[in-house]
Amino acid sequence: MTLKGKHALVTGGSRGIGRGIALKLAESGARVGIHYYVNEAAAKETLERVRKHGADGFLVQGDVSRVDDVKRMFARARQEFGSLDIFVANARPELAKFYAKPMEISLEAWDHALDSQAKAFLVGVREAVGLMGQGGRVVAVTYAPGAQKGTWQPWIAMGSAKAALESLVRYFAVTLAPRGITVNSVSPGLTDDSVLNGLPDPVVETARTWHASGWTPMGRMGTPSDIGNVVALLCSPDAGWITGQLIHADGGASLVDTLMPLEIQRG
Ligand SMILES: NC(=O)c1ccc[n+]([C@@H]2O[C@H](COP(=O)([O-])OP(=O)(O)OC[C@H]3O[C@@H](n4cnc5c(N)ncnc54)[C@H](OP(=O)(O)O)[C@@H]3O)[C@@H](O)[C@H]2O)c1
Repeated sequence: MTLKGKHALVTGGSRGIGRGIALKLAESGARVGIHYYVNEAAAKETLERVRKHGADGFLVQGDVSRVDDVKRMFARARQEFGSLDIFVANARPELAKFYAKPMEISLEAWDHALDSQAKAFLVGVREAVGLMGQGGRVVAVTYAPGAQKGTWQPWIAMGSAKAALESLVRYFAVTLAPRGITVNSVSPGLTDDSVLNGLPDPVVETARTWHASGWTPMGRMGTPSDIGNVVALLCSPDAGWITGQLIHADGGASLVDTLMPLEIQRG
């Protein structure tokens, strides 16, 4: 698979899953705009690693919850690349900005979550397609369990924001189909070397053990490069007939039935 000659912009490309995506796109030959929020050093490291793959790119700062910042990112992409083939909406604010239970969440935190995902995507896709020719690729990184379930109580704002994001993906897929631009979402399972690793070590270890115990059939958590591989597949020329879909990139975790003990399910 080659993305040689393609131009990509990855939001939240400074670290975690976004870095995994930026590196895979670069490895496949694309030039990559790496967006970050505050962590310029991490973004620089991603760009250095992009260059080690023989690709190139640029860094751009911005708060995706601010419309002007989102527009500025694409103005920069126009300036650097002249055109865009791939837009990956991956950035997500820190937990402190939105993590609160339904009866406690402030309206400011609610707005921040929705603005950073739904409004940022609405504005971002409109800006991106202005730079795209025939056959562009748009990928949104979601968290489908948060969007579709309700037990993780402090996730209410981000879960609702991801649900709106997933819906926008379907609407834009139809809008942009005549131009051959595909729009899909990828839902990672719990991913190592990401926001998760900011939690205390015993929590991370418990998460690893949980996945190894069978709740992820492949027996482990994902990695940023697992997700990068899936995004790069969707961005390949051969994926041009897949649009409006939500792809679970989770080692089979979404197939497991939570209503029955694993021992019974395994037979
Ligand atoms: N980690 C998981 O297990 C998991 C599972 C399913 C889905 N996801 C999804 O995958 C995506 C990436 O998650 P991650 O765990 O890799 O995240 P992460 O490691 O916490 O990285 C977050 C990224 O978003 C940027 N960012 C933070 N606040 C921002 C803001 N206000 N405006 C613009 N950018 C901002 C950060 O930039 P700085 O580096 O400059 O701070 C960083 O690049 C998210 O959409 C998340 O919902 C993650």
